[in-house]
Amino acid sequence: MSTSPSNEVEANRQPDHEINPQFIERWSPRSFSDQDVPEDVLLCLLEAARWAPSGNNNQPWRFIIARTPEHLTAFHSFIHPSNRVWCEKAPVLALAISHTLTPRGTENASHAFDTGTAWGYLALEANNQGLITHAMGGFDRDLARQTLNIPNDYAIHAVIAIGYRGPVDALPENLREREVPSSRNEVSTFTYFGKFE
Ligand SMILES: Cc1cc2nc3c(=O)[nH]c(=O)nc-3n(C[C@H](O)[C@H](O)[C@H](O)COP(=O)(O)O)c2cc1C
Repeated sequence: MSTSPSNEVEANRQPDHEINPQFIERWSPRSFSDQDVPEDVLLCLLEAARWAPSGNNNQPWRFIIARTPEHLTAFHSFIHPSNRVWCEKAPVLALAISHTLTPRGTENASHAFDTGTAWGYLALEANNQGLITHAMGGFDRDLARQTLNIPNDYAIHAVIAIGYRGPVDALPENLREREVPSSRNEVSTFTYFGKFE
């Protein structure tokens, strides 16, 4: 794990309060290299997701992984062209879904919250292992459900591209200038003390 931010991150992201650099080091590039992700590395990412907290420890997250040409082609079929143009190079795609019911069959109010945490853990561990991740909401959920046989009691959240970083100039021209870490709103813009204001 890196102990200090890279130049690229440092130029674009300055935290106002001291935090572990992993939080600003993770960002979402679009350029993937040809390098494959070994299965044991992929399993480390999923292992990190495994330890996310969840309501009643129900662990509602599921990740459907594509890393063979056949499975990747199936995923590409439901991803919007604006994302497909860059994510087709990613050696691994993962669809994050969650079980909307508890083991007792009642509605699980926290399935989306919990699965968001699991994806966050996965993304941080990917960065710790020298990989990049890029989540996408731009895909056809109905087609994904149909293509991957996902039952109706599972909510479909995001496709996550996983791999190693490639050169910026391998991207289509219109995406090159966006290949930089973004900044964030200040803590005061999303924090309320006592009541919503
Ligand atoms: C649920 C979700 C959906 C997203 N959908 C897309 C998408 O369809 N296409 C895309 O290029 N990026 C997508 N992103 C990436 C975000 O734009 C990105 O995470 C955000 O701008 C913050 O930048 P960073 O991840 O580099 O810190 C998505 C991210 C999330 C978490």
